[in-house]
This record gives sequence, structure tokens and C-alpha cells, in this order.
Amino acid sequence: MKTMIRIVVCAIVVVMVTGVAVAQFAKPEDAIQYRKSVMVLIAQHFKRMGAVVQGKADFDRASFAANAEVVRSMATLPWDAFLEPGTDKGDTTMSSAVFEKKTDFMQAAKAFEESTALLAEAAQGADLNGIKAPFNAVAQNCKACHKPFRK
Ligand code: HEC
Repeated sequence: MKTMIRIVVCAIVVVMVTGVAVAQFAKPEDAIQYRKSVMVLIAQHFKRMGAVVQGKADFDRASFAANAEVVRSMATLPWDAFLEPGTDKGDTTMSSAVFEKKTDFMQAAKAFEESTALLAEAAQGADLNGIKAPFNAVAQNCKACHKPFRK
């Protein structure tokens, strides 16, 4: 019975996750709100790690790893919401370069995703010193994308 429940739960999760990937937004505003919300969540959890890396907060491996995991799982979500027609207008700081240089944008997104995965992995084992380099790599990827792709 327990196995059955697990299978059903897994199936639902798979449907939900793939559902997000192909989601169509009803209105451009919905796509804008979605991607900005994800960015806000990423930033909040990233900042908490930043405070630790900068020595402003104590290093607690479990909570650092939890923050790294949130950022890793959020990192794949925003990109589909940048590719909706009309979402370069309205309450957004997105640059039209996202559409004009879509390949570069998706490359920046991919590099970011990969660096968040490396950070989440490092956070599982490494001490604070082992986490600094992968943290900084993620921070570089935030900047490398914002510079060309945000107004
Ligand atoms: C591949 C590109 C890319 C990467 C990587 C990226 N961002 Fe963004 N980010 C954007 C774009 C484009 C916007 C503008 C979104 C909008 O206004 O529609 C944005 C917006 C934001 C915002 C403002 C959200 C709002 O409410 O207006 C914050 C905060 C933010 N990003 C933080 C981060 C942090 C922190 C990282 C790294 C940990 C990061 N971003 C990585 C492209 C990126």
C-alpha cells in the first residue's frame, strides 16, 4: 500500500514539474509576475548564503545546504516565462536583448543552472572554505546575465 502511495505521489510530482516547464501563461503580466517572483525567491535564499560567505552570519551546514537546494531547484524555472510574446513591456526590467539574443540568454541561464547545481553539491560536504568558490561562481553568473539582459 505504501509503495502504491509512493508511486502515485511520484507520478503527481512528475506531472507537476513537467507541467511547469510547458506552462503557457494566460497573460503577459502573468509571465512577468512569475519570473520576477522566482528571481525574488532566488535572491532571498542567495543572500542568506552570501551573509555566511562574507562572515556576517554563522555557518550552519544544514541551513546553508537547504538554501543552496532552493536556489538550485528555482534556477530552472524563470526562463520559459521570459519567452512569452509581449512580456518585454509593462512592469519589467527585462531587456529586449532576451528576445534578440535568445541563444546567448539561454546559454547564460544554462551556465547559471550548472553553477547552482555545483554549489548545492559542494554544500553537502564541504566546509565553509570549500563553498566559497562555488558560491562566487553563482554570483558571477547572476551578474553575467543581468548586465546584458536587464535594463
Ligand atoms: C540568465 C539570466 C539571469 C540570471 C542567471 C539571473 N537573473 Fe535575475 N533577472 C534576470 C532578468 C532578465 C530580470 C528582469 C526580470 C523582469 O523584470 O521581468 C531579473 C530580475 C532579477 C531581480 C528583480 C526581480 C523583481 O522583482 O523585479 C532580482 C532580485 C534578481 N534578478 C536576482 C538574481 C540573483 C540573485 C541571481 C543569481 C543568484 C540572478 N538574478 C540570476 C535575469 C537573470
